[in-house]
Amino acid sequence: MASVTYDKATRIYPGADKPSVNALDLDIADGEFLVLVGPSGCGKSTSLRMLAGLEDVNDGAIRIGDRDVTHLPPKDRDIAMVFQNYALYPHMTVAENMGFALKIAGVNKSEIRTKVEEAAKILDLTEYLDRKPKALSGGQRQRVAMGRAIVRQPQVFLMDEPLSNLDAKLRVSTRTQIAGLQRRLGITTVYVTHDQTEALTMGDRVAVLKDGVLQQVDTPRNMYDKPANLFVAGFIGSPAMNLVEVPLVDGGVKFGGSVVNISRENLVGAGSDKTVTVGVRPEHFQIVPAGGIEGVAVTVNVVEELGSDGFVYGTTKIGGEDKDLVVRVPGRQIPARGETIHVVPIANETHVFATGSGVRLSVCD
Ligand SMILES: Nc1ncnc2c1ncn2[C@@H]1O[C@H](COP(=O)(O)OP(=O)(O)OP(=O)(O)O)[C@@H](O)[C@H]1O
Ligand SMILES: [Mg+2]
Repeated sequence: MASVTYDKATRIYPGADKPSVNALDLDIADGEFLVLVGPSGCGKSTSLRMLAGLEDVNDGAIRIGDRDVTHLPPKDRDIAMVFQNYALYPHMTVAENMGFALKIAGVNKSEIRTKVEEAAKILDLTEYLDRKPKALSGGQRQRVAMGRAIVRQPQVFLMDEPLSNLDAKLRVSTRTQIAGLQRRLGITTVYVTHDQTEALTMGDRVAVLKDGVLQQVDTPRNMYDKPANLFVAGFIGSPAMNLVEVPLVDGGVKFGGSVVNISRENLVGAGSDKTVTVGVRPEHFQIVPAGGIEGVAVTVNVVEELGSDGFVYGTTKIGGEDKDLVVRVPGRQIPARGETIHVVPIANETHVFATGSGVRLSVCD
């Protein structure tokens, strides 16, 4: 087992005018489950492939434990990779698929059998060992792909969207299995997904990338509670955080009838901006009776009922302009379409960002 370090690692594809991964700095601890997340094209797969040795590193370095692997071929890095398209060999049985890498490496038959059986037990595949992949369900095939990686007992697991071929329900159960398995095996894992829910539920820590640049690396809790900038605030959380640009007033900002206080020193980050962007998560609105001075009136356009609670998609007027807001409401107090509800942001659950640079401006409590 080993730690993994990206040290200002940069990848510029031939002919490209900017890096696909730009000076990535990331320290992944021994045994950690780190999730790389971000929108399509942000550089997740490239980052992973650089660690795997499948992509050149044009600047900076990559280390596994104390070893500088920047220029080592993939086979010398002691890693195992599970891809989105895990392509099992159709003519081989599950056991042969799982043991194939060991066979190539010249491991003897009985040892291969032992390792494959161990992995099959962990993955609940024992009864399928003699089947061909076409006689398996999507989830079972996915577990065979995991098994291929496990039998090699690598120092690091790399996984690139391994669940994207599975249907929604299977994805949820398999992600729990993978996270549980990783914790049991304790093998350092770098896991790529574009799905922020997957990232938050699986990772010890989550790293958010945008345009090849690392935005924030943090525990799921901190990422959710203290997004470092507007991009992370909008990307992490579903439905997304409400982000509203509001004018700066003396000592703070005004959101509907409520003033969110910001200390003078924190406002320095806003520079010469005349506005800041206030962020409120859908669950951080309190519904108040009509007629109160503080509330903003939200006209309900669409209601999404989820049983335990519901999401109201509505419109309000802030600073004279129409603005869409999403508000979580209790499951038994769902308003009707066309109704107007009044909400206030819950104190100390509001986020403030510089509109220009997007950086978080801490709010005084
Ligand atoms: N072989 C290549 N040659 C040139 N450009 C590439 C190559 N592979 C990827 N890119 C570019 O590098 C950027 C990052 O691509 P990458 O595949 O790492 O994104 P990603 O975050 O994995 O996206 P997705 O979620 O769609 O898989 C993209 O702009 C992409 O077009
Ligand atoms: Mg990708």
